[in-house]
Amino acid sequence: MRHLLSTKDMSRDDAITLLDIAEDMADVADREVKKLPTLRGKTVVNLFFEDSTRTRISFEAAAKRLSADVINFSAKGSSVSKGESLKDTAQTLAAMGADAVVIRHPASGAPHVLAESGWIDAGIINAGDGMHEHPTQALLDAFTIRRRLHQGGARGKGLDGVTVTIVGDILHSRVARSNVWLLTTLGAHVTFVAPPTLLPMDLTGWPAEVGFDLDAAIDSGPDVVMMLRIQLERMNAAFFPNSREYSRRWGLDDERFARLAPTSIVMHPGPMNRGLEISSAAADSAGSTVREQVANGVSVRMAALYLLLSGDREDS
Ligand code: CP
Repeated sequence: MRHLLSTKDMSRDDAITLLDIAEDMADVADREVKKLPTLRGKTVVNLFFEDSTRTRISFEAAAKRLSADVINFSAKGSSVSKGESLKDTAQTLAAMGADAVVIRHPASGAPHVLAESGWIDAGIINAGDGMHEHPTQALLDAFTIRRRLHQGGARGKGLDGVTVTIVGDILHSRVARSNVWLLTTLGAHVTFVAPPTLLPMDLTGWPAEVGFDLDAAIDSGPDVVMMLRIQLERMNAAFFPNSREYSRRWGLDDERFARLAPTSIVMHPGPMNRGLEISSAAADSAGSTVREQVANGVSVRMAALYLLLSGDREDS
């Protein structure tokens, strides 16, 4: 794997291979000594132009568990405030010996620019670009679903026939975009449920059904309900008139949560707006995978770094 930019062009075999390697990495996490020497001598740069808790820290943990050196860059407090460009910032970090760059950027396509420009010779991982994609989030979500549903052993398996309802702010969600491609590639059936103002205008070609009634979606008995964060920082009042109304119609509140089948999984990529898109009872329930998703993120990111940095990087 040369770069990891998107799940849209990822094949089923490649996705399953990465998830299976993540299973091996999770076995390492269960050991007393959690480190592998695999990436000793390699340097991973975390290049974050947007805030992050889970993604940045789990990439750092993943790289360190594989014995790589890690350089953390945050745009806040850097020379970006003096006008330094993405190219100059990336080349400055590359001059310090970056083998892989994990980039989060508010502009959709920034990781692709870095990968295709030839500015630096490093593997690029997209850690979230604007409203476009967040591939490692989708991979850790798929890993989490697969583990929960195939408790006897998930290796080698896809998500054939699994029903996933993704609820909320689809319009601004890179998590929804990466998930719809990856989950359907793995055989799942995806339904979006959202207010009309929080859906993209044109969903042509998206492999998802669309609904507007969360109660009907809950009563249809989905295997997975994935709640999305309302991204207030990316919208204005025309998109999102009022929190109480939103919660009443599209929130996973206590009453809706109680109607879910006991086997249904409740997911959220975090950070959560408790009481808005999800109640605390749902978020903290036995059916919730919120903390599992975070833990699994380290194993999945170890697998991604391993595929990117061990051996020769292939074109793909
Ligand atoms: N899920 C996710 O991307 O969280 P962070 O913004 O904290 O990285």
